[in-house]
Amino acid sequence: MTAQLVERLGADAVSAIDPSPSFVAAIRARFPEVDVQFGVAEHLPFPDDCFDLALAQLVVHFMTDAVSGLLEMARVTRPGGVVAACVWDHAGDRSPLSTFWRAVHDTDPGARDEAELAGAREGHLAELCEAAGLIHLEQTTLTVKVRFATFADSWEPFSLGVGPAGCYVTQLDDRGRDVLRSQCAQLLPPAPFEIAASAWCVRACSRLISRQPAAVDTECWCHVMPMARPRHQRRRAVVISRPATVP
Ligand SMILES: C[S@@+](CC[C@H](N)C(=O)[O-])C[C@H]1O[C@@H](n2cnc3c(N)ncnc32)[C@H](O)[C@@H]1O
Repeated sequence: MTAQLVERLGADAVSAIDPSPSFVAAIRARFPEVDVQFGVAEHLPFPDDCFDLALAQLVVHFMTDAVSGLLEMARVTRPGGVVAACVWDHAGDRSPLSTFWRAVHDTDPGARDEAELAGAREGHLAELCEAAGLIHLEQTTLTVKVRFATFADSWEPFSLGVGPAGCYVTQLDDRGRDVLRSQCAQLLPPAPFEIAASAWCVRACSRLISRQPAAVDTECWCHVMPMARPRHQRRRAVVISRPATVP
């Protein structure tokens, strides 16, 4: 998402924030001109009304307090600006991690997956946005497809300890990891294979304005606030957490 915004708006018009040192380091390396800061959505280090749009891609479900995070996104976005977010459909078994969690449940029926996280079930992301006072909500789903050349390519991200799935793998012993890996391999089609994954998406307005926002474009919602002003007056976009690869 940061790459898209940089391409569309220019690096000097984009800010990004993430609490994870490795994620911050990665985006600094890739986009040295982007203002990247450590921090969480719940306490954004920006003044009121300083962005045209604030985007959180696959982040809301990790926020400690999702409504506070969305409220902060609205606070830093000018009235009438766009606040948008998306979360994998974990509850509907349509996330890129669904096969992984199915394998976990086969081998460890009591394990907790990500289905109950904020925004991960139908309608919940919109409820959170409404609770944060966002208006003119537009809900949609986006589906992406990822192709894996080998099973090992699909398993490798889980062994990095990132996110709830990575944490689950990390706390297993060698035998437990082997059992889970085999179960995942059994549930997936033979390589090469493709995984389709869908995310709940909400695009909303930060606060009341006299006109309706532009219609949603499901292919990409980050172009909706074009930077048509002269460069010295340009406002900016903030990305809550940097882009990464699926999952
Ligand atoms: C699944 S990654 C998504 C990264 C990127 N936005 C993407 O779409 O590829 C989740 C990110 O949320 C970040 N994160 C976790 N809690 C957060 C919070 N309270 N505020 C902002 N970011 C948070 C994590 O550090 C991680 O970088």
